[in-house]
Amino acid sequence: MFRPRRLRQTPQLRSLVRETRLDPGQLILPLFVRPGKGVRNPVSSLPGVFQFSPDEAVREAAAAASAGVPGVILFGLPETKDDKASGAYARDGIVQRAVRALKKELPDLIVITDVCLCEYMSHGHCGIVHEGRKTVLNDPTLELLAKTALSHAEAGADLVAPSDMMDGRVRVIRERLDQAGFIDTPIMAYAAKYASSFYGPFREAADSAPHFGDRRGYQMDPANAREGLREVALDLAEGADIVMVKPALAYLDVLHRVKQEFGCPTAAYSVSGEYAMIKAAAARGWIDEKAVQLETLLSIRRAGADIIITYAAVEAANWLAGK
Ligand code: PBG
Repeated sequence: MFRPRRLRQTPQLRSLVRETRLDPGQLILPLFVRPGKGVRNPVSSLPGVFQFSPDEAVREAAAAASAGVPGVILFGLPETKDDKASGAYARDGIVQRAVRALKKELPDLIVITDVCLCEYMSHGHCGIVHEGRKTVLNDPTLELLAKTALSHAEAGADLVAPSDMMDGRVRVIRERLDQAGFIDTPIMAYAAKYASSFYGPFREAADSAPHFGDRRGYQMDPANAREGLREVALDLAEGADIVMVKPALAYLDVLHRVKQEFGCPTAAYSVSGEYAMIKAAAARGWIDEKAVQLETLLSIRRAGADIIITYAAVEAANWLAGK
């Protein structure tokens, strides 16, 4: 009789037949960067996450790299905000400065930049807002996104990751990068990004909550999975090299379908709310943090993610190494 249990009897056998592996080399750590020197501001809703000045970001990234985490994704908190998001594409903007510092000290680190305007806009939306109608204007926003992505590439970013969800932005970013000679800089597109309530703690960390309305006019309806596949198809046609599904845990079905349908390099963003829930329950002693975090990350890999962006990247890497 066939007994599935036969191959479960020892750790060696279980490892031999394991279908999915979790490796630190597949994890990306988000870093929030802000002006200053020696700054490490804790984010209250994300224990273990800080807003760093560029010098401290370098220290954190070095620690991540030595734990086996190959890359970081940067989010910027500018000195000032306005209604043109000037800080997003300034040559000496906070992300641009952090990229230069990171690439100088850690040339092998993969430095990804989040390309969005919400952190730089006085109103907190991801694009230019029409004054009277209070809606985000898609096409005028594209130019600012292209400028932002190009300024990141010029600073030395290895990959740019548009997270704004405007239509057509991958195409304009690809064209702008190519024109400027950055033909080998890949685009990781936040392709299926849902209008999720799991982003709450991030908006504290990045000071990017919209001042009026919400993001449902550009981010996706959580009820729609087929639409996620259409968004992915569009981004690939426009030139995306890696597509992302975000959030991860509540959207594993979408992730699975994206990987099945397109088979392309696929990332999942295990967002701030997912991390905060595990931290909060663990702090009360209600769950085993290490076991739950690793099981969560494994489930995201099993669903189809090649790459996972997670605030737990360094902890997970150390746990996986038995530390
Ligand atoms: C920028 C952006 C957001 C996140 C990543 N890029 C916030 C948002 O869309 O409101 C969320 C990440 C997280 O919650 O960890 N648009």
